Amino acid sequence: MLRTPLCDMLGIGVPVFQAGMGIYRGLVTTPELVAAVSNAGGMGCIGGSGLTPDELRDVIRRVRALTDRPFAVDLIIPTALSTRGGTRAEIRDDIRRHHPRHFAFVEALYERHGIPRLPIDLALTWTPELTDAQADVVIEEGVALLVIALGDPAALVPRARARGMRIGGLVGSLGNLRRQLDADVDLVIAQGTEAGGHVGSVATFPLLPQIVDAAGGVPVVAAGGIADGRGVAAALALGAQGAWVGTAFLAAAETRLHPQHRAQILGGRSEDFAATRIYTGKTARTFRNPIHAEWSASGLEALGMPHQKVLFEDFLNAARHAGRLDLVSNPAGQAAGMLSEVRPAAAILRDLAEGAERRIAELNRFIDR
Ligand SMILES: Cc1cc2nc3c(=O)[nH]c(=O)nc-3n(C[C@H](O)[C@H](O)[C@H](O)COP(=O)(O)O)c2cc1C
Repeated sequence: MLRTPLCDMLGIGVPVFQAGMGIYRGLVTTPELVAAVSNAGGMGCIGGSGLTPDELRDVIRRVRALTDRPFAVDLIIPTALSTRGGTRAEIRDDIRRHHPRHFAFVEALYERHGIPRLPIDLALTWTPELTDAQADVVIEEGVALLVIALGDPAALVPRARARGMRIGGLVGSLGNLRRQLDADVDLVIAQGTEAGGHVGSVATFPLLPQIVDAAGGVPVVAAGGIADGRGVAAALALGAQGAWVGTAFLAAAETRLHPQHRAQILGGRSEDFAATRIYTGKTARTFRNPIHAEWSASGLEALGMPHQKVLFEDFLNAARHAGRLDLVSNPAGQAAGMLSEVRPAAAILRDLAEGAERRIAELNRFIDR
């Protein structure tokens, strides 16, 4: 069986993680998905970033009702938020007054695509108050592993340790690594640019060995572009102790992705998934749709976080309700080109782990003894 020291640290059977994917209202990392992966011997992860603290607590408890195995929660804690404590209404107003060209761009989208306006009915925006409250819930609930993306986990590590939890930090470059090591995380996830969701610019193959070499023995988990056992085996060959897999689990039967978005992922080619700042202000890889070209043609620079997210969320909400999923962001990575069918999460996990085992055994034939 595929096993690395990370399995003992986390109490899991195989070193394969279902990545945190915090999209719109928890449609991807449902309690059923997270529990299915953990029950199958890997580690499931709730993408907590799009949930209110109360929703997050509810999802954690629903996962617990479905599994007694360890699972994780991933939170996005942006380091540089462009506002502190702004409500959605205040941010909308700020955009209208101080960024009229951005405001006009989105107004024109409604007209051009014939979408009736429908502002999102969600108080939640990315503020430090929100991310603090989300982290409080995860720590109070004592979830086995808390993964922090984008930000600085320093304040959280001692609190999580005191609850017997482990903490992981996601990095996309060597520059990000220092902050994670200084915060004394238990593991580092090195994510290459081919991944779905927020990404840096370095690909997994050059990133991973550099992070492994610089991590000073802290276990490294590979992310970005891994969708079968060959990818897991390659990650281990490059020095990782595990694989953090997102896009491949978008094909899991337990997600509640909209069928149109699922079809884009199963039918799309790797090159159909492009990195853009449109949706949040940070580069994120999503299925390329007509808005991408319209944004590029506008020559506008993305606003900071959370302004850019607030700017687009109303339009995305309206497009979703109008059934225009072809205009709604659908984050996924280049590995989508490898996917063609919906399968139970346990089968996806089994193929990743057993496929890696087979591949590693097969590689011996390249050694001429
Ligand atoms: C739909 C989707 C949503 C994501 N949301 C988050 C998120 O909320 N937080 C985060 O740290 N990473 C997020 N990611 C990145 C994943 O955690 C993971 O690093 C990535 O999917 C790994 O690369 P892969 O997609 O090639 O497997 C997301 C990825 C996808 C595909």
